[in-house]
Parts: sequence; structure tokens; C-alpha cells
Amino acid sequence: MYSLQSLPQFFIRFQMMSARIPWVLRQIRHQSSWQTSIKAAEDMVRVEVKKQDPFSIVSNEMSTLAKNIARIVGSGHPTLNRVSSYYFEADGKKIRPLIVLLLSRAVSCIPESKRNRIEIDRYDVLDQKEYEGTPKSMLFAGKSALESISPLNILHGINPSLILNPLTRANLPLPDFEDSAVNNEILPKQRRLAEVVEMIHTASLLHDDVIDFSDSRRGRPSGNVAFTNKMAILAGDFLLGRASVELGRLRNSEVVELMSTSIANLVEGEFMQLKNTVLQPDITMVEGNPTPIPEATGKVPTEISEYSVPGAIVDGKRIITHEENVNAAFDYYLHKTYLKTAALISKSSRSTAILAGCQEEVINNCYRFGRNLGLCFQIVDDMLDYTTTAEQLGKPAGADLQLGLATAPILYAWKNDPSLGPLIARNFSKPGDVETAKTAVIKNDGVEKTRVLASKYRDQALEALRTLPESGARSVLEFVTNSVLTRTK
Ligand code: FPP
Ligand code: MG
Repeated sequence: MYSLQSLPQFFIRFQMMSARIPWVLRQIRHQSSWQTSIKAAEDMVRVEVKKQDPFSIVSNEMSTLAKNIARIVGSGHPTLNRVSSYYFEADGKKIRPLIVLLLSRAVSCIPESKRNRIEIDRYDVLDQKEYEGTPKSMLFAGKSALESISPLNILHGINPSLILNPLTRANLPLPDFEDSAVNNEILPKQRRLAEVVEMIHTASLLHDDVIDFSDSRRGRPSGNVAFTNKMAILAGDFLLGRASVELGRLRNSEVVELMSTSIANLVEGEFMQLKNTVLQPDITMVEGNPTPIPEATGKVPTEISEYSVPGAIVDGKRIITHEENVNAAFDYYLHKTYLKTAALISKSSRSTAILAGCQEEVINNCYRFGRNLGLCFQIVDDMLDYTTTAEQLGKPAGADLQLGLATAPILYAWKNDPSLGPLIARNFSKPGDVETAKTAVIKNDGVEKTRVLASKYRDQALEALRTLPESGARSVLEFVTNSVLTRTK
């Protein structure tokens, strides 16, 4: 927070930021490209214009993010280092950490007297003197988010080599917190959270590209192509392991619970998609795999899906109207979308507010913001799969139909044209199915209707966001939220 002495400085800064808001709005109108918007924002964070640029309020943290992650993922194995840092080298959108950092700033504008749900922990900054006088209750199991909780010799395990695992080194080179003394709007733990979120996301991309047989990501060969499936999977697992270490060191059980659940959600979402892609309820073979799925022994109870999946349309026995069937498919699609994309964004937004000591209502609004933004983001992603080229995306385009996935554009087409049902049920596997589906999407305005659906979630995200006090950070978040809908990449 700003001290009394620094209030004039705050107002000047605030006015400068407010003066930039019409600029931001013009950008939203004129720039249809997400990448262009982000690029423009990045360009403005150059030193000379830093003070006036809305994005500059998190530019330090964004620029040190990759450096800090590189330190966290360093291992004693050169090839593992190479694979696990591969996706961080290319310029990604980094929307997830950007949201955590901006939201951290936005909630810091709430007076501390109203942020007393937990004691705010500012003590894991570099200056060890800060710990003097810290209540004992806050010093359990080590002092800092940068320090291990378990004894180092336990973490070293059988090989006490200090080189093998930098995370367990006693004198770990510390990540950059150069402005932490002056900038206490973003707490050190929130920065760590931003890194954890990006690491989880990157791990999921390494795995996703194996599942989707992708050949490119961020304009380069994807991890599976550059290093083999096995290495890509292992690097993803390694990133998850290191992200978990960082998460544990936040020493906040509620945040650990949320973020661990978001990892489980990613897998659940991907499984829902897999089932939708290659498995039908009564099928016991996985496409392309000659070995049948092993029968359950019955020793462990397994749950029955509560969804009537689109596959139900072909058995001819169910008494279900077309409308009910389409609605069930949309429910399934939106649930999958929440799990595979919105869960990570919403749960990290919630965690950001928790770490800031916010009250329940603010925590819930941050969650609602992240949830709706995440849904909007993935629905736009599904739309771009129909509208953009692989060159523009830097990853395969038109992949969803090829993979047998029924996303919003084709579901809207099916709503109008029930004859598409069998194509969806057989995952567009017959020759000509993909072309028929593409034509149907155009004929039935599937893309336009998908855009309207995404804008509904964008509006709900904005509504949740506007419950937070007005601030420069909130304005930038509004800008980012609007850009999600207009992006072309
Ligand atoms: C991209 O979707 C993928 C995701 C949003 C999540 C993928 C999740 C997993 C593979 C589960 C495993 C998770 C972890 C944490 C290891 P997309 O294929 O629609 O987008 P794309 O076009 O960018 O590939
Ligand atoms: Mg994919």
C-alpha cells in the first residue's frame, strides 16, 4: 500500500494510468489480434515509457518469471533441463501468470483492515532481518517460500550431490525480488504462485501435444517431435514435481488444496475429451490400440458417468429428444472446458485472493472472474481452430475435427441440423465427415454463435471483476479480458 508521504505520487501515477485508459479502449476496438495487443503492451514496458504504461505495473514480475522458473526447474541432468525448459524458451501468451500478478495488485487496493481472513504473510522476502519479531506461528517449518520444509539431507535422498538437485541446495541462488522492498502490493507468495501456475500449464502442454499428436507449438516443433513422446511426458512430470515443491513451500494448505485439485481437474478434463474422442460408452477398445481395455475386477468400485454423451444418439433405444441430446452435449462440453482450462485460471485467481487475506466475498468474486475468463478463453481457442491457419496459431489448426472432437461450433451446427448426430457419434471418422462438418459449421453460423457464447462468459468475467475496487490493475485486467475475445492467436 502507499504510505501517506507517497500519496501524491500515487495520484500522479493513477492519473497517468487513467489517462491511458482511452488508449487501451482504442486498442481493444482497433486490434483484432491478441498477440498484437500483448506485443503492444510489451513494447510499452520499455524503460522510457514504463511509468505510463498500464502493463508496466507487473512488467518486472513478468520479466523475471521465466528466469525464476528456469532456476526452479534446473536439474543435474542436461537433457532433462533441455526438454523441461523447451516450452519456456518460446514466447507463450503467459496469460495465467499475468492474471495472478494483475489480480494480486488489484486486491492489494482493498484496505488491509478488510483483508484479515488470514494473517498476510510478507515475510518470505530476501531480507532475513524481516523475520525478527515475526510471530512464532508464522515461522513453522522454515521461514521462507524459498526454503525447504523438510531437512535438506532428507530431500537430497540417497545421492547427497548438491549439483543433482538445485532445489535442495543449501545456498540456492535466490530468485529476483529486487523491488520487493518498495513493491509490497504483490506478495512474494503471489509471485511464486504465478510461477507455479505457468509450470503446471506448461507441463500440461507437453502432455497434451503427445495426446493430440501435435507437431508444432509456439511456432516450433512440439516437445514430442523435438525430443520423443517419452521425454516430453517425463519432462511434464518433472515440471509438475517441481511445481509441487514450490506450492508446498507457500505453506498455505488451502492454496495447496486448490492448486493440487486444479492439476487433477486438468486430467479429468482431458479424460472427458478422450472419452468424447475415441471411446464410446459401450466400447472396450481404444482407437488404434489392438488390446482391449482390461475389464474391472469389481474389487474397486468405479463411478458411472452422469452424462448422456453424444454417443447415445446412435443406439436408437434411448428416448431422448434432439434438444435434450444437444443440451446434454453442451453441458458435457462446458464441464470439460471448465476442467481442462478454467479450473487452473479460476483456482489460481482464488488462491491469489486467499494469499492477500481477502474476505470470502472477494475470494468468491476472484474465483468467478477466473472461471468465466477461463471458459471464454477455451471457447475462443475452439473457435480459432476453425477460423485461423496453423501459421498464425503457431500450432496445428483444424485439429479438433481431425481428432474427432465436437466443440462449440459443430455443436451449434448440430443443434440446427440433427443429421450431423451420427457424424459426431462416430467422431468424424468416415471419409468426408470432416468436410461435411466444416460445411455445416459455415452454413449454420457455428463460429458466430460460438463467439456469442464466449462473449457471454467474457461479460460475466467483467461483472465479477468490477466488484473489486477501481484501480489501474483492474483496468488492465478488463483490457486483458476483452482481448481474450478478440485475439487471433
Ligand atoms: C490444451 O488443449 C490442453 C489443455 C488445456 C490441458 C491438457 C491437460 C492434460 C494433457 C492433462 C495432463 C495434465 C498435467 C498437469 C500434466 P487443446 O489441445 O485444446 O489446445 P492446443 O490447441 O493448444 O493444443
Ligand atoms: Mg492440443
